[in-house]
Amino acid sequence: MPAISVVELHKSYGAVKAVDGVSFEVEDREIFGILGPNGAGKTTTLEIIETLREPDSGEITVGGMDVRKDARAIKELIGVQLQTTVFFDNLTVRETVDLFSSFYRNQVGTESLLELVSLEDKAGSMLDELSGGQHKRVSIALALVNDPRIVFLDEPTTGLDPQARRNIWEIVEQLRDRENTVVITTHYIEEAEYLCDRVAIMDHGRIIAMGSPDELIDRHSPESNISFRLEPLLSADLIAAIPGVSDVRSVNGGYEVTTLVPQETLIGIFKAAYDNGSTADDVSMKRATLEDVFLKITGRRIRQ
Ligand SMILES: Nc1ncnc2c1ncn2[C@@H]1O[C@H](COP(=O)(O)OP(=O)(O)O)[C@@H](O)[C@H]1O
Ligand SMILES: [Mg+2]
Repeated sequence: MPAISVVELHKSYGAVKAVDGVSFEVEDREIFGILGPNGAGKTTTLEIIETLREPDSGEITVGGMDVRKDARAIKELIGVQLQTTVFFDNLTVRETVDLFSSFYRNQVGTESLLELVSLEDKAGSMLDELSGGQHKRVSIALALVNDPRIVFLDEPTTGLDPQARRNIWEIVEQLRDRENTVVITTHYIEEAEYLCDRVAIMDHGRIIAMGSPDELIDRHSPESNISFRLEPLLSADLIAAIPGVSDVRSVNGGYEVTTLVPQETLIGIFKAAYDNGSTADDVSMKRATLEDVFLKITGRRIRQ
């Protein structure tokens, strides 16, 4: 039985089709990402699974239970970090976690939660004394107070600086080690690529591609780009004749080429240089990213 099953989910707000026929399954202990631009329908999808919003139609189960019939039981099974959390500014971090724990039968213990999110030394601080990243970490701790099997994180790193994002990624990796199932939304490509076992790319209320990051790239954007410099420079015609090269672009002092067979092309680059009295240098190869996948499918960048 999958941890989560969503079949043909639809949700409109007036004329806006926020979620327009979405289906996917999340396996037990999987880190599942929903990647998409603002307004794609990520939060709506998540909050319906979390039993916080009503679907218009669709079959949605969590741990085998129906979100419409078993909301109470599902709430015991899941932990939810909302996209925006309202805190009580006159409570300390420890008091806030204690308060949220008191809502549940199942309790983990405040100290171990603060340790998990690396906020032991902020336990006595007031909420309004925390940085943005520390706030997010409190909200993740709150999502874990009932020792949930399935954890939902809605854009946990949006607006954070790179170091604070890394800290959140470390927490997600700890959740993986604890064998939690995690559903995370993001509009950061690197985040989805780095953290997620599988990713659903969402746009305009639909899932437009789904799979592991590697699968998605292999399926939709399998080319690699190789850039290099040549001293002295050789003609573009010579470079275009190198095995596997499907596109050649001039860059400062050299070229960038596109290829489906990077190994053959790399050998060909060095061979062409050698045979023609040139030296290839500063060679670098880049595989496609999920950004390229999104661009291929939609013709747009994820962040515009
Ligand atoms: N409560 C609401 N009332 C009206 N429209 C909403 C509401 N929540 C979301 N929407 C609209 O639904 C679409 C999807 O929003 P949302 O699920 O928040 O996307 P995301 O989380 O991917 O940014 C957007 O067009 C948004 O404006
Ligand atoms: Mg959202």
